[in-house]
Amino acid sequence: MTDDRKKKMNRREFFFKIGIGSIGVTIGGGSILSFQYISPNVLFEPPTKFKAGLPEDFPANSVTLNSEQLVYIVRAKAGYFYSLSAVCTHLGCITQYRTSENKIACPCHGSIFDIDGQVLSGPAPRPLEHLQIEQNDRGELIVDKGVTVNEDYVLKV
Ligand code: FES
Repeated sequence: MTDDRKKKMNRREFFFKIGIGSIGVTIGGGSILSFQYISPNVLFEPPTKFKAGLPEDFPANSVTLNSEQLVYIVRAKAGYFYSLSAVCTHLGCITQYRTSENKIACPCHGSIFDIDGQVLSGPAPRPLEHLQIEQNDRGELIVDKGVTVNEDYVLKV
């Protein structure tokens, strides 16, 4: 076998390998795209329910902000509970409870709510949302931020 012949065979092998590599890349890429196409687009959201604590954790006649969940737990004098969203209904700022005035205020544009969530003043168009609050088997308060309830909904403990 001459050197020229060896070179031609090497070139042939080279192009053969390039061809096989191209086919492999095409099949691999097509498989990845096909898998992405058939796999469902799922959006994983955090759960809407959370444990707020035991009823005795909340003093009578108190408004407690759960700053992690952005929810107020209100324990009324009479001993019943209700839960309010801390998100302002104007443009979504986080409201703050003012103990001295016993009111909930929005720092962004000045809306004021009473502790029932009703708008007292400001640009907020609607009351704060009342959220479902229940007790589980162990007596813990469970709030579901995904379920709004009527303003007269209360949990009697
Ligand atoms: S976001 Fe609360 S008053 Fe505007």
